[in-house]
Amino acid sequence: MSRVTISAIKADVGGYVGHGDVHPDMLVEAQRHLNQAMLGELVIDGRVGACGDDINYVLTHEHGVDSAAVHGWVWEAFESLTEVAKRLHLYGAGQDLLADAFSGNIRGAGPGVAELEIGERPSEPFVVFAADKTEPGAWNLPLYKIFCDPFNTSGLIIDPKMHAGFALEVHDLVENRVALFECPEDLYELLVYIGTTGRFVVKYVFRRGNLDEPVAAASTSRLSLIAGRYVGKDDPIMIVRSQSGLPAVGEVLEPFAFPHLVAGWMRGSHNGPLMPCSMSASQPARFDGPPRVVGMGFQLADGKLVGPRDLLGNASFDRARQIALAAADYMRRMGPFEPGRLPMEDMEYTTLPVVEARLADRWKTLEPTGATA
Ligand code: 13P
Ligand code: 13P
Ligand code: MG
Ligand code: MG
Repeated sequence: MSRVTISAIKADVGGYVGHGDVHPDMLVEAQRHLNQAMLGELVIDGRVGACGDDINYVLTHEHGVDSAAVHGWVWEAFESLTEVAKRLHLYGAGQDLLADAFSGNIRGAGPGVAELEIGERPSEPFVVFAADKTEPGAWNLPLYKIFCDPFNTSGLIIDPKMHAGFALEVHDLVENRVALFECPEDLYELLVYIGTTGRFVVKYVFRRGNLDEPVAAASTSRLSLIAGRYVGKDDPIMIVRSQSGLPAVGEVLEPFAFPHLVAGWMRGSHNGPLMPCSMSASQPARFDGPPRVVGMGFQLADGKLVGPRDLLGNASFDRARQIALAAADYMRRMGPFEPGRLPMEDMEYTTLPVVEARLADRWKTLEPTGATA
């Protein structure tokens, strides 16, 4: 077949109970829509998935990235799921649908989108990661390890096809600009930026010298920057291709054996460990968390999806889950103090400014003290 596009699109259109899960009726409705899209040949294949209170579609089709037809269909499906959420009085019905109506592209309208158009290889393994109670910058550390760190990805050393390295496209979500970092040469410059996870996010990864076809793509929307107020925490999704000159599946999963600290836990206002979870047990519980990630493994067969296989539920990640729980205990003891709680700048879209406004009169300017020269 010719070229195929893989689209992973997620939204929180209503939580059950609170921000914990997707209601089974929503999954049924999502599948009903998908069946229609497959019958109508809009998409070749698709799967409905979830992580916490975020529902996702993994779709394959021939319409390319940013297709108005595919995005419009997904928007309609999310709108119809919102109706189910409203009927059941689920929490935050339609939370991530920020636009009143679809206007040609779902990006920037609320849902998270990771898409790549590829020429399918004879065997095309890839992993879709979905996370809840965090933000797109949560992928920065794992993407760095997968594509830039030979202590994670021994293929960078052992496989001559990977020696040239990878190029990472980084988006600055505040200044709305983009830059390409060619690694390994640009490693240090790259890290200057992507260590600031609330602002700089990796959007695409390419093989060096082939900027036409990404090997990884991530969602980068920050809802607060779109809506101008806190409306949920941009729980992200990403697609990572694997094997045959790319990191092996085990190398793609390896970063998640370390539950790194990410922003977004409880009211989108706390830092916590990103806990790897099985697809069937991805529901946040403790303090609405801790932040969590599921890994859905697929093979492509002439554009059709073979899978998903649950990759992070495996016993190999039990220890990471234990470490995450220990880290969660530790971080919780910080209560409302930084860095357990996020810094003030990251809370500017929460209700905190309301408190500030209420106390405006209580704060008096301090007169300068001490002798001046
Ligand atoms: P490929 O180079 O064929 O992808 O195999 C690498 C591998 O999976 C070893 O773990
Ligand atoms: P979601 O972004 O997953 O809806 O969670 C909101 C939240 O902060 C719950 O504590
Ligand atoms: Mg929610
Ligand atoms: Mg969520």
